Amino acid sequence: MDLKSEIKKLAREKDAVILAHNYQIDDIQEIADFTGDSLGLSIEASKVKNRLIVFCGVHFMAETAYILSPNKKVLLPEKDAGCPMADMVTAEGLRKMKEKYPGVPVVCYVNSSAEVKAESDICCTSANAINIVKSIDSDRVIFVPDMNLGHYVSRFVDKEIILWEGFCPIHRRLTAKEVVGLKEQYHDAVFVCHPECSPDVVDMADHVCSTSGFYTYIKKSDRKRFIIGTEKGVLYRLKLENPDKEFILAYDTFQCKNMKKITLNSLYESLLKEQHQVTVPEEIRIKAYGSIQRMLEVPR
Ligand code: 13P
Ligand code: SF4
Repeated sequence: MDLKSEIKKLAREKDAVILAHNYQIDDIQEIADFTGDSLGLSIEASKVKNRLIVFCGVHFMAETAYILSPNKKVLLPEKDAGCPMADMVTAEGLRKMKEKYPGVPVVCYVNSSAEVKAESDICCTSANAINIVKSIDSDRVIFVPDMNLGHYVSRFVDKEIILWEGFCPIHRRLTAKEVVGLKEQYHDAVFVCHPECSPDVVDMADHVCSTSGFYTYIKKSDRKRFIIGTEKGVLYRLKLENPDKEFILAYDTFQCKNMKKITLNSLYESLLKEQHQVTVPEEIRIKAYGSIQRMLEVPR
């Protein structure tokens, strides 16, 4: 039996569900029970009936799954798969910011630790950030940790957004100059980017959306060529669903090395040994759950 079939068999025997983020390697996306963006995966994690959740993504995503489903065993196949942006804000740092702006509500991007979520009023993802900020009854909001997503949201809301200076190194690497060059080279192409890109890159986009937003937007479009302003992993499903369309990755190495740590081997080992369990102390989990639950209650 090949490794993919072995994994599927073992997952059935162990009553495990495999959740995978859109940036995972093709082989993982192929065998996952559910693939999605952070919002889709959070919703899925909150509904899981299986005993085990094997989360193919980065640490904060597995943590979010545990926060939502604490009675499940949540595994992260590679224990060091983290998100550098999530590490740019700590609970202590956020507490200091809250002291500086007393009473100002805090929105935290889901790319953050459980401790930071516990210190926040409400969570958001790239798919719902505008709606979440609009839903807050205050004309000032603290937004952590992604300054680019926060800046993107500020274009759509009539509120002052106090930014934390965090960013995604992978998305920040794409420059406006490179996009200008690509647009000149592929003048008929549509440029789609993730809101984690810098504001001057976002300025040039025909469409800005979460990773799963790329699939819906591009499938509906009658255009044939697309410049992809996010991590390479989205190409797997884009090519599968749109065999007649052409995709140009905005830069060659648009890859998140943390997302790419998980392999078929590490997934198999994780399932077999039920290893790299992710948990959160209950006191923090309850507070973080409040932030995520409030996010899920905001109409989409
Ligand atoms: P999405 O929620 O859009 O999938 O984004 C997660 C992420 O980490 C992007 O870098
Ligand atoms: Fe974090 Fe950026 Fe990787 Fe997304 S792409 S997981 S924000 S480092």
